[in-house]
Amino acid sequence: MRKNIVAGNWKMNKTFPEAEILMNGLSEYKKRNSTNCEIYIAPPSLYLETAKKIFQNTGIEVFAQDISEHIFGAYTGEISVEMIKSVGCSGSLVAHSERRQYHGETDRHANRKIKTLLDAGLTPIYCNGETLEQRKSGKHFDVVKNQTETALSTLSPEEVAKIIIAYEPVWAIGTGETATPEQAQEIHAFIRNLIAEKYGKNIADEISILYGGSVKPENAKEIFSQPDIDGGLIGGASLKIEDFSGIIEGFN
Ligand code: 13P
Repeated sequence: MRKNIVAGNWKMNKTFPEAEILMNGLSEYKKRNSTNCEIYIAPPSLYLETAKKIFQNTGIEVFAQDISEHIFGAYTGEISVEMIKSVGCSGSLVAHSERRQYHGETDRHANRKIKTLLDAGLTPIYCNGETLEQRKSGKHFDVVKNQTETALSTLSPEEVAKIIIAYEPVWAIGTGETATPEQAQEIHAFIRNLIAEKYGKNIADEISILYGGSVKPENAKEIFSQPDIDGGLIGGASLKIEDFSGIIEGFN
């Protein structure tokens, strides 16, 4: 079912004591306030188990920021789907632009990671989006189309219905420059249409498509009010409770 979602991607931020303070603050916030969206948090993997414990009975779901495409074995430094599942995670981000930029991830890797998560009954949040150069040269629709088609290429329609997509234009991530609500809506509608053409309208209507890139309390409401934008994947502003709660309230 299509859901409204505000997801926080903490990236490589916060020491353990700092993370505990933020998690406890979020937990208190969620207990005190009824929200009109699901709340997901993707802390560094070292803190997943603690996050799950602190968010118990709050409804806040815990996601990993990345997983290995391999099931288990000699892959130093990696964490597996079964590991994140065993500490209670709901799923993982896949192919975030920083994984693409600094770790050479491609949509072929994304495809295998998405499949691995789905096979384990977990939810992938698949990230796509164009660079500034690609946007300036008018290639953004083609880029996002190719990314999405490759990443979903081996999935059945039933599997596609279970994923979440996060459109994050690289030029808007951490730069303070947000896509205008119209720019974001245009490409969200394009992605939904791609899914509809390939897998059917019912499935396209079920999928949540999140926007990511400099979402703040000041612009969240307008972005979330667009018909094909079902929430946000939040980086910097998820690290402060006042900012993150302000974004969640964009759905009020
Ligand atoms: P910012 O919200 O810091 O721009 O980051 C967006 C992002 O990359 C979320 O995954």
